[in-house]
Amino acid sequence: MAHGGHCVARHEGRVVFVRHALPGERVVVEVTEDRQPGYCRADAVEVLTASVHRVERPCPYSGPGRCGGCDWQHVAPAEQHRLKAAVVREQLSRLAGLAGDPVVEGLVVEELPGGPLRWRSRARFAVDRSGTPGLRRHRSHDVVPLADCPITLEPAAAVVLGRRWPGAGAVDVAIDSAGAVTTTRLDRRGVPTTSRVLRPGGDLPEEPVARAARTAGGRDWEVEGTGFWQVHPAAADALVAAVTGLARVEPGDTVLDLYAGAGLFGGALAPAAGAEGRVVCVEADAGACAAAEANLAGLPQAEVWQGEVDAEGLEELLAELGEAPSVVVLDPPRAGAGPAVSRVLAGSGARAVVYVACDPAALARDVAAFGTAGWRLAELRGFDAFPMTAHVECVALLVPAAPSSIMEA
Ligand SMILES: C[S@@+](CC[C@H](N)C(=O)[O-])C[C@H]1O[C@@H](n2cnc3c(N)ncnc32)[C@H](O)[C@@H]1O
Repeated sequence: MAHGGHCVARHEGRVVFVRHALPGERVVVEVTEDRQPGYCRADAVEVLTASVHRVERPCPYSGPGRCGGCDWQHVAPAEQHRLKAAVVREQLSRLAGLAGDPVVEGLVVEELPGGPLRWRSRARFAVDRSGTPGLRRHRSHDVVPLADCPITLEPAAAVVLGRRWPGAGAVDVAIDSAGAVTTTRLDRRGVPTTSRVLRPGGDLPEEPVARAARTAGGRDWEVEGTGFWQVHPAAADALVAAVTGLARVEPGDTVLDLYAGAGLFGGALAPAAGAEGRVVCVEADAGACAAAEANLAGLPQAEVWQGEVDAEGLEELLAELGEAPSVVVLDPPRAGAGPAVSRVLAGSGARAVVYVACDPAALARDVAAFGTAGWRLAELRGFDAFPMTAHVECVALLVPAAPSSIMEA
């Protein structure tokens, strides 16, 4: 199984990336894309020898040539966790040179509560030219019409898939902890146009919404209606616990929360930094910053800085901070922070960096950059925050490789 959820097969010297298969299976494939000399892509359309981990797909829309939303509906949930751990290990071994490293070898991907279905609290559905909602076929613009999406929380799926959306290009939907469902309509260029909220119990009125309610780490949070929040209802809690445990923030610490969204990690770490400490949350999106301001209002040690995290911006931020951060938490989008930002963080004087990553390839690339700068991967946790898909969330603790010599220097 390779990163991305497809199996690697070989045919007459060429690599074939096969979706809807499992390691060790013998399958008949149909080639779906053949544009590169070295490899082609294919779908397993018939299974000749099935893996013991193959199961009946619970979703009637998934499978070869159908909805491209899930990669692993055909895989038993426990095997999904093992495959995800193996993919993370492989990425860190190959891209960060950590083959055989005990931290990497010891990784297990932990299940979140709630089971493998009905976990998506946020989703983007595509809309075809006739206004029918659905999801795209894998690597295609075709929209597969859906009457339901069994991985999406039922009220959110029903609100979008239960009607037509004439003229829209896509619809974002999010359901909050109180059950309110927010939909945001996007035009054909992907620009958001109108937002509506439907509150539980009342079919009417639909009204514009600015905020959605979320709970995590034992407190309430506000988020923009369909703005970023961990998609799995149990993920924010699990990640807060993992980040808090690895960051080991002490009273008086200066903490940076980069790519802070609505301030989830900064807000969770602020009490440990205490009144003498300082927590700076950095986020590019204006709406998320406004939500973070509201969420952190009761924490005088916490500040929200709106800005882009890139190497140059980070250098400026560190200069403005006027002191070395004690601990940095970062939770970048899928592309990761990148080697340049990682190098700046490695030279920031922080005693620890906690890196939350939803793409193990991007994480491995950045762990390599930390490694070159004299840091090491000290701890690693994995969470199945995206059941039925090949996606996995990791939380990595990076520390200077030889803290004692740095302290002596
Ligand atoms: C994966 S989310 C994490 C949010 C938050 N940590 C949470 O768990 O709720 C990534 C966040 O980074 C922000 N972002 C993306 N690129 C950025 C950049 N270059 N600089 C600062 N923030 C950025 C996005 O707006 C988004 O809120």
